[in-house]
Amino acid sequence: MTKYLEILDDKPELIKRALRIVMGRIEEAIARRGVCTIALAGGSTPKPLYEKLAEQSLPWAQLHIFWGDERYVPAEHPDSNQRMARLAWLDQVPIPEGNIHPMPTAAADPQQDAAAYDATLRNFFGDRPWPSFDIVLLGMGDDGHTASLFPQTAALTVGDRLITVGEKQGEPRLTFTVPLINAAQNILFLVAGENKQEALQKIFHSDADGFAYPSKLINPDHGVLWWLLDAAAGDRLAPDQAIYQTKSRPEP
Ligand code: 6PG
Repeated sequence: MTKYLEILDDKPELIKRALRIVMGRIEEAIARRGVCTIALAGGSTPKPLYEKLAEQSLPWAQLHIFWGDERYVPAEHPDSNQRMARLAWLDQVPIPEGNIHPMPTAAADPQQDAAAYDATLRNFFGDRPWPSFDIVLLGMGDDGHTASLFPQTAALTVGDRLITVGEKQGEPRLTFTVPLINAAQNILFLVAGENKQEALQKIFHSDADGFAYPSKLINPDHGVLWWLLDAAAGDRLAPDQAIYQTKSRPEP
């Protein structure tokens, strides 16, 4: 497992850097296997990245889009992660609709929809124990949550399936489980804003457990972990260099 921590001057620079890394991983995956699988993050931070991806020329038929988590709302709901990514990116490019695999939220039963998406992944990836996404994009909340893996919730302990039901203040959400995220080839955290500093300090510099700061549970089994922070979020971090390969910019 390789870890990189990069602190970029500001959010536009973070997004530019993320674009370069994502484009490199997409090209690499397609060159190697003829297909690239990417799981998208929700929230606000990745939206400008999706807007920049909409400007790129990519072999769209070889790119398959999934979501790492979803609020349990209809696809057209303003809070939908699917809706955000479609408006910012997927509606703007000629990607085949069959390459877009949103998390279902129409069964009125989150457990049923979680099981359905689990089956979707198993059907797509074949029945290997843990499908390995080429890219998993993640954000981090100011409480250290990622995807819809929130502090002190049962979802953090699920290790026998791909998709589970998380919950935020009682609101259900569908989410990748920790082992599914950790099976990925490339995991990118995109974290911006001063309000993330405290959680980052806990994750990088303390023995806080992952139950309190779930992003701490994300460590790829065999892949590469990229933490991309803007200075507002990360300039007080002095990571243990032994943990992180570099603070400068590794060539992906
Ligand atoms: C979601 C996301 C969630 C998000 C963090 C950070 O569905 O909201 O998956 O995990 O990444 O809450 O959100 P921001 O990028 O808006 O700070």
